Formats: sequence, C-alpha cells, structure tokens
Amino acid sequence: MSARVLDGNVVANQIREEIRPRVEAYRARHGRPPGLGIVLVGDDPASHVYVRNKVKSGMDVGFAVDLHQMPASSSLDEVLAVVDRLNRSETHDGILVQSPLPPALGDEAERVVFDAIDPAKDVDGFSPVNVGRLVQKRAVLMACTPAGIVELLDRSGIAIAGQRAVIIGRSDIVGKPMAMMLLHRDATVTLCHSKTRDLAGVAASADILVAAIGRAGFVTTDFVKPGATVVDVGMNRVDDPAVAARLFSPGSAKLEQFARKGSVLVGDVHPSVAEVAGALTPVPGGVGPLTIALLMKNTLRAAEARAGRP
Ligand code: GUN
Repeated sequence: MSARVLDGNVVANQIREEIRPRVEAYRARHGRPPGLGIVLVGDDPASHVYVRNKVKSGMDVGFAVDLHQMPASSSLDEVLAVVDRLNRSETHDGILVQSPLPPALGDEAERVVFDAIDPAKDVDGFSPVNVGRLVQKRAVLMACTPAGIVELLDRSGIAIAGQRAVIIGRSDIVGKPMAMMLLHRDATVTLCHSKTRDLAGVAASADILVAAIGRAGFVTTDFVKPGATVVDVGMNRVDDPAVAARLFSPGSAKLEQFARKGSVLVGDVHPSVAEVAGALTPVPGGVGPLTIALLMKNTLRAAEARAGRP
C-alpha cells in the first residue's frame, strides 16, 4: 500500500486564492496594498532561492514587496538600522529577516535582530512577544511552517484532537511552535530530540509524526505506525552517490534525477515510509509551499491588525 500524498501546492494555492480578495479590499480601503519588507544579508544560495520565492509570491497576491539585499560584510548595526527603518515605516506591515545571518555577525546576531523587529510586524512569528502569545493561545502572528502544517492537516481532513502527535526536532522555528499549535488543537504531544531514548519506538506511537531534524532520510519505516500521517519538514540536498543509493531504489525517478543533475532534494523521511504511512507530505511540494502561503497570510493579518489599531 502506498501512502496518500498530501499536496502542499494545492493547499497553498487555496490559501493564496482566499488572500487575494482580502488584499484587494485592504487596498481599496487604505489606498495602498499591504507592504512586506524582506532583508537578505549575505550569499547563502538556499536563502537566495527562498527569498526569491517569497518576493514572487508576495507580488503575486498583490503586496508591495521591498527586498533589502545586503552584503555578507554588513555590520550588525547596519542590519539593525534597516530593521529600524522598516519598523518606523507606515507602509511596511510585515518585516522578515531571512535566516541564517552570515556567521561573521556573531552567534547572538540573529537573536538581537529578531528581537529588534516590531512584534506587530513580525510575520515570521519569531519575536519573544509573539512566541509568548502563542504559548498563551492568543497569537495573531505564528511561525509559518508549523502554522502551514496545521492548515494542511485541516484541509486534508486529518483529525488532530485526541491524536498522538510526535515531533522530532525542537527548533525555535518548527519543533517548539509545532508542539504548541498541536497541543492547542487538543493533540497529545511528545517533542523529541537528539537525547530522546528509543526515538524510533516513541515515533512509532504517533498518529501524526512531524520530522524536522535536517537529516536526509533519517525517519525509516521502523519509526512509523502503519497508517500514520507523516509530515516531512526536511529539505536536504544530497550530492553523495552512496547516500542517494541508500535512499532510492534502482530505476526510481529520484535516482534518475540524481544521475542527471548530480544532486537531489530529500526530506527527513526515507522514501520507503510511503509503504507504511497512511498519508505523507512529499519533498519538494509538501510543507515548503505552505510556509510561503502562511507568510502571505501573516502579512495580510499584520496589515489588517495595524489598520485596526486606534
Ligand atoms: N530560514 C529558513 N526558514 C525561515 C523562515 O521561516 N523565516 C526566516 N526568516 N528565515 C528562514
């Protein structure tokens, strides 16, 4: 049996179509579209791809998108000055600083920069104020990837309340907010990490398993209860032929793609899990498009909330 594929592009398109008329209504009412300021520092190739997609998607739904590209040699003060300008701007409703920042800015740079973003404009939901509001179940702006996963489950008819949810990975961006969002939807939540004992055994108790570890094909069939819903947040580029051979069966489309391009994108979930899971998100085309769709939704929400402020 092969798992039902949860197509992130279909759900992301639905969300974008719902956003469009609200953007139009906002523009008609306020004489300008919602504005999104994106800050990209340095040359990380993956970040450039992500940001290009965010700019494209924002323009597609009718936002004014303003990209601030800064060299890797920028100082922390220069980055903070851009954030400060966007914080003060009347026409920027959302601010996003792409992570990771260049290592030369120091270990604390990301925290300092995210802390500096006005929580009302924090469309990533990373600021301590918005994280605190999420914990108290009164967030307006929540981290995009886990919020997108909840939308995907809801719109795919997958029940959350009363289900056992296991999350592998405790990052601030995915694992921790995912745990809160599933808890608020009445799942029984277990958050696993590198020190979890019998990780495969714990994962195999899940009705909903979320893999957000950043290791290609790490979640194998022994981690998965037959019929479980498996959400793959991983996005790993594999360029080692030995790793590709371990992941993909001879003659598979992915192995052919590897032979043609010299690399292939792989999630945290091993392809053989499709034979055990009840439903599975593909990589690419699963969680990725939803992260961007939720960024659009957050930007619109930020604009509407700011307009509603006294
Ligand atoms: N880098 C990887 N994912 C994200 C994200 O969701 N937001 C930002 N700002 N940077 C990222």
